[in-house]
Amino acid sequence: MFQAVSSQRSSLVSDRTPERAALASRSSFTSRSALLPITAATLAAAIFVLDTLTDLEIAAAALYVAVILLSVRFCHRRGVLLVGGTCVALTIVSYLLTRSGSAYSGGINGVISLAAIAATTYLVLKIESAQAAIDETRAQLAHVSRVTTLGELTAAIAHEVNQPLTAVVASGNASLRWLAADPPDIEDANRAIERIVREATRASEIVGRIRDLAKRAPSATCWFDLAETISATMTLVQGQVKQHSIALRTAIETDLPLVRGDQVQLQQVILNLLVNAVEALADVGPGSRELRVSATQNGQGVVVTIADTGKGFGPDGERMFDAFTSTKPQGLGMGLAIARTLIEVHGGRIWTEANQPRGARVRFLLPLPAPTRGTGADHLEGGKQKNDR
Ligand SMILES: Nc1ncnc2c1ncn2[C@@H]1O[C@H](COP(=O)(O)OP(=O)(O)OP(=O)(O)O)[C@@H](O)[C@H]1O
Ligand SMILES: [Mg+2]
Repeated sequence: MFQAVSSQRSSLVSDRTPERAALASRSSFTSRSALLPITAATLAAAIFVLDTLTDLEIAAAALYVAVILLSVRFCHRRGVLLVGGTCVALTIVSYLLTRSGSAYSGGINGVISLAAIAATTYLVLKIESAQAAIDETRAQLAHVSRVTTLGELTAAIAHEVNQPLTAVVASGNASLRWLAADPPDIEDANRAIERIVREATRASEIVGRIRDLAKRAPSATCWFDLAETISATMTLVQGQVKQHSIALRTAIETDLPLVRGDQVQLQQVILNLLVNAVEALADVGPGSRELRVSATQNGQGVVVTIADTGKGFGPDGERMFDAFTSTKPQGLGMGLAIARTLIEVHGGRIWTEANQPRGARVRFLLPLPAPTRGTGADHLEGGKQKNDR
């Protein structure tokens, strides 16, 4: 059921970098656009007049930081930069126009004010990016938790769907009996068929509800750099890697082509595989824990391999892709099932192999739209490598 539901899931976000997410959430100007820019402009003008009319010793220009802080409420990144630049220009013009006071002290004050303006602009932009990244991550987490909820709900939903299906079968048999009777009982057969339609509609509504749950908006696929996605995802398990003293190696070909798909979904796949590898390594003795992530291109597409020196899959690798199959006390058994669904949604395939000398390898292939020349997935270790630490 999970596979059926997930394959309906539309392809998703992905071209939303944190910066772009920030821009999306706040277009150039918000609905309060009229009031806030006017207030900021008035404040800037007042500071300019104050700075120009007062002695050079008075560092009124430092007040421009208030204008920059205000600009965050209605500007995007470029707008904030523009406001910061304007404040710098106004400070310099004021300094040049002001006649009274010591030029020396005024110069020092001016430099301090300019530093305050630059530092505020920089910090504000930094905070903005971080906030956008948090928003993005939160949206992803909300989806992941919906997917998890979906897994937990599956049993209950299967039960709900089973009821109408049982009724459909019973009514179908009844209508066959009414029609086979001599003479056929058309009226009762009709009533049974009406029940079939009613119950089938109910089952379809239940399935529709699951589909809604799995949907995520906005949906978009894009071209993206898989190497960057792998690196970004690896940072998410960095803490656990350190905690378990795992030697992490990467071998990613330098000239991997861009892949087209849902970056967030593929990140979810890589994360599931990395978490599994780390969990497998946590179970073996320290000193022999090695995790190797590689990506290469072959004639069919891009192949990503996550290999560990853990306990390995044994003969059960393929079965572990079944939903709710886990050997872990707290495992839901959904990581690999979700990974397979998502890779298949992208037209790819995912499989396991034994790692040498020990452990597990999980590999997935993402097809490229046009055939490309390459080294072949089986020659993975021989590819040109971006980094091999
Ligand atoms: N790298 C690996 N090495 C050895 N066994 C693995 C590895 N990855 C997965 N497995 C086996 O496959 C099973 C299923 O993995 P899957 O990710 O689907 O579920 P899980 O990790 O048990 O739980 P969760 O749903 O929380 O991810 C695991 O319980 C484990 O036995
Ligand atoms: Mg898992």
